[in-house]
Amino acid sequence: MKILVTGGTGYIGSHTVVELQNKGFEVVIVDNLSNSSADIVDNIEKITGVRPLLEVFDLTDFDKTMDFFTRHNDIKGVIHFAAYKAVGESVEKPLMYYRNNLVSLMNILESMIANKVENLVFSSSCTVYGQPDELPVSEKAPIKKAESPYGNTKQISEEIIQDSVKAYDVKGIALRYFNPIGAHESALIGELPLGVPNNLVPFITQTAIGIRDQLKVFGDDYPTPDGTPIRDYIHVVDLAKAHVIAVNRMIEGKMKKDFEVFNLGTGKGYSVLEVINAFEKTTGQKLNYKIVERRPGDVIEVWADPTFSNQELGWKAEKGIDEMVLSAWNWEKALRSKNKD
Ligand code: NAD
Ligand code: WQD
Repeated sequence: MKILVTGGTGYIGSHTVVELQNKGFEVVIVDNLSNSSADIVDNIEKITGVRPLLEVFDLTDFDKTMDFFTRHNDIKGVIHFAAYKAVGESVEKPLMYYRNNLVSLMNILESMIANKVENLVFSSSCTVYGQPDELPVSEKAPIKKAESPYGNTKQISEEIIQDSVKAYDVKGIALRYFNPIGAHESALIGELPLGVPNNLVPFITQTAIGIRDQLKVFGDDYPTPDGTPIRDYIHVVDLAKAHVIAVNRMIEGKMKKDFEVFNLGTGKGYSVLEVINAFEKTTGQKLNYKIVERRPGDVIEVWADPTFSNQELGWKAEKGIDEMVLSAWNWEKALRSKNKD
């Protein structure tokens, strides 16, 4: 059973390729390597014993995308990760974000429809909820006006898929990720932020290993128990496993509606200071950090109600915060020792 994974050499995509192969799927990756490297395929092969096919091209190129689908006419499902994802950069370069994230999705949908590929799993985000009125946040919560062009691309993408599902022979599942962190236990694949990381955990591990001097904790005057914002951190391997279940659900014709949305979170929130404490405790590393002013645009607190995913997908996040931060640390160490060679 052949699955196309777009963005499959990226962070979440590479972990999903591993889980798909573990379940016996044949995987073809399309990636333009704008935020990843081709040698990830070597590491996927080291983990699973199977080398996925990688085709390097840009999914905003309509002709190349259509040609790809025509050549691979036995694809049963598409898991679409390929996108730009840096919130701050999207504010600086909104058109680059709209073009990349929306044109690639439309090219994929048109190529799927023309080639009778019906099943699309899409990477969405909890960012669509903004600061929810009620916590935990379920899939029924209203979509809030996006805080950034990046967030808006996720909202618009969900709408594009929803409208396409109504008009064509295509089905969609949007998976709304909360905060993916951690790495594969082999430490062969993980997150590879380019330049200075925006996200908390890569910044923590880079500070602990000595690449960054100090972690800045953005505000401790929020209305939360310790004053720092709360998020639902989820292990990337748990997240990857949900994609395998989602694509299987589509292929096996088990969807209840032609467009479905699922939250992928643990249901538990941790504050920034709790994440730092978990990191220090599990790794034995003392972290140099200081409290600074708030970062504009940060929501106070958000965590998932994963009940619907648990019940409908039969999926549940299994790994706790300690395992998440420890695996992120092991990946950081492996990465830096490799770079010294
Ligand atoms: P990533 O940058 O590691 O992976 C994305 C991959 O897509 C990269 O390998 C990149 O080279 C590729 N790509 C980008 N544009 C492309 C194009 N036009 N054509 C071909 N390849 C292209 O990011 P990730 O963290 O693995 O995120 C995967 C998806 O999940 C994205 O859609 C992202 O928006 C979404 N998401 C991520 C998070 C997170 O915190 N990491 C949270 C919610 C949603
Ligand atoms: C987590 C917490 C920061 C860095 C972003 C996107 C979201 C989704 C996931 C894609 C916050 C604090 C962070 C630092 C800090 N991505 N922090 N010092 O902002 O919840 O979500 O990534 O869809 O759309 O917005 O994640 O990891 O950046 O921040 O104190 O150096 O850590 O203030 O409270 P965020 P994050």
